[in-house]
Amino acid sequence: MLDGAVITQTLDLAAERCADPTPLVYARLFAAHPDMEALFVRDTDGSVRGEMLARVFEMILDFIDRRAYGAQLIQCEVVTHDGYGVPPTVFGAFFTSVAETVRALIGENWSPTMDDAWRALLTDLNWFVDHPDQMAAANLG
Ligand code: HEM
Repeated sequence: MLDGAVITQTLDLAAERCADPTPLVYARLFAAHPDMEALFVRDTDGSVRGEMLARVFEMILDFIDRRAYGAQLIQCEVVTHDGYGVPPTVFGAFFTSVAETVRALIGENWSPTMDDAWRALLTDLNWFVDHPDQMAAANLG
């Protein structure tokens, strides 16, 4: 079940252990998709990577709560990022990198409940990657 309170708890715990997880998330992404690293060639100081990840965390907080814009943002970014050379399939890998980074930071305190919540979140996020033309409300409730 997608339990927003559990996701928030994991994000808080991860933030306590690491102020800036940006390098950790992208290291996981590039390990899985080495070809993606070159797309950040203009990001000489890491600020684009940092800004992008910050937007993704904000989007997740909206997605698990009011879902005012999170679902639509995913659908839009799939289209805009196609222009950067990012295939839709990499979105799932990116969300997985975020989840694995959070899990690794929490370490031995990671619980089955947290695992369930993140699995459900990843499934729901990826639904919008795979359905760019569906009304976001279609997956609510
Ligand atoms: C929902 C998921 C995503 C969101 C909300 C998002 C958001 C953004 C934003 C806001 C920027 C511009 C940042 C800035 O210029 O300061 C950006 C740039 C970029 N994103 Fe994403 N992104 C997402 C997923 C991805 C994925 C999966 C990849 C794959 C590697 C990716 C690759 C890139 C690249 C290469 C750029 C830089 C493009 C350039 O050279 O200007 N993004 N993203």
